[in-house]
Amino acid sequence: MGGAWFESVREAERRARRRLPRSVYKALVAGSERGQTLRENIAAFSELGFAPHVAGASDTRELSTTVLGQPVALPVLISPTGVQAVHPDGELAVARAAANRGTAMGLSSFASKPIEEVTAANPQTLFQVYWSGDRDAMLHRLERARKAGAVGLVVTLDWSFSHSRDWGSPSIPTAMDLRTIARHAPEVVFGGKWRYLADYARTLRPPRLTVPNMTLPGQSDPGFFDAYGEWMQTPKATWEDLAWLRERWDGPFVIKGISRVDDARRAVEAGATGISVSTHGGNNLDGTPAALRALPAVVDAVGDDVEVLMDGGIRRGGDAVKALALGARAVLIGRAYLWGLAANGQAGVENVLDIMRDGIDSALMGLGKSSVHQLSRRDLVIPEGFGRRLGTRDGHHAYTPD
Ligand SMILES: Cc1cc2nc3c(=O)[nH]c(=O)nc-3n(C[C@H](O)[C@H](O)[C@H](O)COP(=O)(O)O)c2cc1C
Repeated sequence: MGGAWFESVREAERRARRRLPRSVYKALVAGSERGQTLRENIAAFSELGFAPHVAGASDTRELSTTVLGQPVALPVLISPTGVQAVHPDGELAVARAAANRGTAMGLSSFASKPIEEVTAANPQTLFQVYWSGDRDAMLHRLERARKAGAVGLVVTLDWSFSHSRDWGSPSIPTAMDLRTIARHAPEVVFGGKWRYLADYARTLRPPRLTVPNMTLPGQSDPGFFDAYGEWMQTPKATWEDLAWLRERWDGPFVIKGISRVDDARRAVEAGATGISVSTHGGNNLDGTPAALRALPAVVDAVGDDVEVLMDGGIRRGGDAVKALALGARAVLIGRAYLWGLAANGQAGVENVLDIMRDGIDSALMGLGKSSVHQLSRRDLVIPEGFGRRLGTRDGHHAYTPD
């Protein structure tokens, strides 16, 4: 598949766009409302510059680190996403690619493959849950993840059920029955999506829209929208709920979706061992500042107490280096690997991780560093007022991280 190699995440996205049916492509673009946070997440990286050295650099550079107790070959992890209908191998292809490149994988509870198969493909799997259903349902999911060998739990809390987009939401079917296939066939056939069709034709079955990690005892796998409905009807978690959940999971426990300093402090009090500064890739409350802008204030507030990760807008290795220089221990990628998966399956995800690794290595070389652990804010050109400090006693501020 030599010709299938791509040199950038942008190119992977172009190929994904050509290959995927329009509705699947749009589901990955996602973003809510006017797309302000979606765009800001990416634009914020362009505002930061590097301050390179030209001589005296070491010949070898160390990219490996540990995240939540897991040794990883590079400080880039797979962020949890549901990848129904993107590729028949779905999260298994992603898990194998991550394992081959030596990194950990976040598995969404809305994923299309069961956790047992994913942990078998990549033992460094963190299971992601939403606060959905009653406490027994939550305990059942935790117990199953524990048995399957998940090495950590990620609790995502920032979803705001915002379902409208100015550029139109794709129609997502509730199940792939014959009627639905007939309805969606024109966008595949007349849209010329032959390679996509061929991938699924080889498996002799259409994309499955079930969520096998949301199954409750004695039930069959629920459909995506049945599980989504349960989640919508569940009252939002309180900090007491989260402390309760934390007590029932004895491994690494990450709270994902934090933007504010006060929430970061509460996450620490609730017993989190990690947090991810994240806006769900701009898919929830539109108008939330870019995760990258919120990162330094959160690092300054709780960076000694928990591992601070970030995700949102990372499209190249240099982006990961900027987040690390601002104080993140590692970053997670979402759309970047989804484009790779859509463009070329497992090899496409490996390709994206290689782009990340090479980009990090080259940025380290330019900055004269021999390890990702040497990065600091002094390596960056940070414009006045770049950061956003949300949720402090005296309000929310723009500020310059020092
Ligand atoms: C299509 C799609 C599905 C997602 N599904 C989930 C999910 O099930 N659970 C979760 O915690 N985050 C989910 N996310 C958010 C990602 O984990 C991550 O926070 C985000 O994609 C990072 O931004 P980026 O795409 O710019 O890298 C999803 C994101 C996308 C684009």
